[in-house]
Amino acid sequence: MVSNTHQFQFACKLSSLQPNQPQTFEIEDRFVIVVLLNDQVFCIEDLCTHDGGTFGDNKLEGSCIVCPRHGAKFDVRTGAAMCMPATEATLSHMVKVEGDDVLVQLRDN
Ligand code: FES
Repeated sequence: MVSNTHQFQFACKLSSLQPNQPQTFEIEDRFVIVVLLNDQVFCIEDLCTHDGGTFGDNKLEGSCIVCPRHGAKFDVRTGAAMCMPATEATLSHMVKVEGDDVLVQLRDN
């Protein structure tokens, strides 16, 4: 069961996102990746589960962001690890869009 006590918080303006171009934002002292993909907005933790690397603002390969350290790929829609050396998903956060505001609800697990 997913426990979650976080509220939705402002992450960025929808109009500031470029399609398929992940951007990093800080929410509650955590860094997240927000990406506009096929007219939907997704958000994952900016944390590679292989060895704690960050994704930065790398481009997407399909629906995946690539960790610049050792090449693990994560699906930005779900956080799922798609190739070695990562085997565990990174956190995927809830997103809601209100007008031009992108709001994110952080998960802890
Ligand atoms: S830290 Fe990301 S692939 Fe190793």
